[in-house]
Order: sequence, then C-alpha cells, then structure tokens
Amino acid sequence: MKTTKSIPLKNQLLEEAKRELVNGHAKKRHPFRYFTLATIENGEPRQRTVVLRKTLIDSSLVFYTDKRTQKVEDLLHNASCSAIFYHPKKLLQIRVCGTAEIITNKEQIATYWHTVQEASKKDYTTNLAPGTPIKNLDAVTYNKKENHFCPVKIIPYSIEYLQLKRPNHLRVLFSRDDKDWTGAFLVP
Ligand SMILES: Cc1cc2nc3c(=O)[nH]c(=O)nc-3n(C[C@H](O)[C@H](O)[C@H](O)COP(=O)(O)O)c2cc1C
Repeated sequence: MKTTKSIPLKNQLLEEAKRELVNGHAKKRHPFRYFTLATIENGEPRQRTVVLRKTLIDSSLVFYTDKRTQKVEDLLHNASCSAIFYHPKKLLQIRVCGTAEIITNKEQIATYWHTVQEASKKDYTTNLAPGTPIKNLDAVTYNKKENHFCPVKIIPYSIEYLQLKRPNHLRVLFSRDDKDWTGAFLVP
C-alpha cells in the first residue's frame, strides 16, 4: 500500500481494512464479497461461506440468510461470531470478531428484501427448512406466499489486519471501545 508520512501507519491500516470491507460489496468481483463466518454450535465451531451484502458506516457487516438455518440458531444462543476475509492478490487477511444481531425490524427487513435479485428470492422460500435430509431432489419445493428471509448484522469489536510481505509481515489488532478504535502491532 502507499504510505502517507503525515498519517500514522496504524491509522492507514485501519482505514485500508475498513475500505476493503466496503469494497467487498461495492466493487464487482472483489474477493471480500464472500467471507467465512464462524459461529458456536453446542460449544463447537461451525463455519460456512456467506455473501457480504453491506458494510455499514460503523463497519458492521450485513449478510442475508434463512431464519431456519443452523447459523441463526447458533447466533440466538451465542451472538459471538467471527468473520474472515482473504484478498489473494494483496495477501491480506482481515479477521472481524463481533456480536451478531438478527434483524427483526419489519421495515429494515423489507428494505433489505428489495435488494435481493428476483431470481434469488426463492432461496428463502423452501417448504422444508435448509439442512433437512431429503430422499431425492424433487423434495425441494418452494412456497410462493411465504419467505424466511433474515438479514443479520455483525457489529465488530475487533478487526485484525494481517498482510504477508517482505521484508516484514504486518499484523495489527484493532479493538473498539465504544466508537473509538485503538490499534496494537502484533508479532506476525
Ligand atoms: C459461494 C457461496 C455463498 C453463500 N452465501 C450464503 C449466504 O449469503 N447466506 C447463507 O445463508 N448461506 C450462504 N451460503 C450457504 C452456506 O455456506 C451454508 O451452506 C448454509 O447457509 C447453511 O449453513 P448453516 O447450516 O451453518 O447455517 C453460501 C454458499 C456458497 C458456496
């Protein structure tokens, strides 16, 4: 990355991390469009890929899911979660740890629902809950009247930046205290 002498390095790295998290949904084909979300299921880690739909002004991350999925059940029991993003060209990894909030406000749900492509809306309308064992693929049927769309917001309390590069790798842990972020360099 370009460095600007007047701005401390830690601030530049935090800004870069936040910017890339916005680019993830705003820029076509950006590698942060998909991230791995880890939740806790009965004390065990469980991970899956999800699409980054929106990064809010406070760096909260929004993804969409079906409210009947295991991840929603996990987050209702334990809202702690972790999201990992990887940019292969920059060799940049961003790990976000946060608290998930299942969005239940009807107006907010409607606003997010309008952003879902028509062809994708059916993904949230299966008659059987996602993950239900089925004997054959014909068992997957859709309900035209009802959906189980569920936007989820991850409110971050830490963002860890790691970039592999020569001569020295760069690793910084940013922690949020109310609205302020403080950064600490770590041994990479
Ligand atoms: C490329 C890709 C993108 C995905 N995006 C989402 C997504 O945005 N939301 C979602 O709920 N599942 C998404 N999935 C499916 C999840 O990875 C997962 O299989 C599913 O949500 C069930 O997870 P759970 O049982 O742990 O809740 C995606 C899968 C792939 C391969």
